[in-house]
Amino acid sequence: MPAFGNPFQGNVERKMSKEELIQAIRLDIAGELEAIYIYDAHVQATDEEIAKKVIADIRDEEKAHVGELMTLLRILDPKEAELFFSGEAEVKEMLEDLGISESDSVQADGAKSIKSVGSLINS
Ligand SMILES: [Fe+2]
Repeated sequence: MPAFGNPFQGNVERKMSKEELIQAIRLDIAGELEAIYIYDAHVQATDEEIAKKVIADIRDEEKAHVGELMTLLRILDPKEAELFFSGEAEVKEMLEDLGISESDSVQADGAKSIKSVGSLINS
């Protein structure tokens, strides 16, 4: 949520160290995720078609921002990037255990839904 009560809150007196920058980027990512959550709630809460379209578009732009910031974080902190890739590999193993290919998607209720032509050929 905005915190505009203090007009000097955004002012800084010095540059950040690399460690502080990495922490700031994590905070930025959290802000983007919160924005996605809020925009999505607003899309769900209205039947006004134009509002749904505009807000959903903004929500999706925030998702792109998450991707940009995550990429920046991986560049600035390669050790953290290794952990991200380790987590990704763990999920890929779980998918393999479940017999789900990466091109398949899983619905919120856990049911598999086939989205790609390639997965249809393999099934
Ligand atoms: Fe954003």
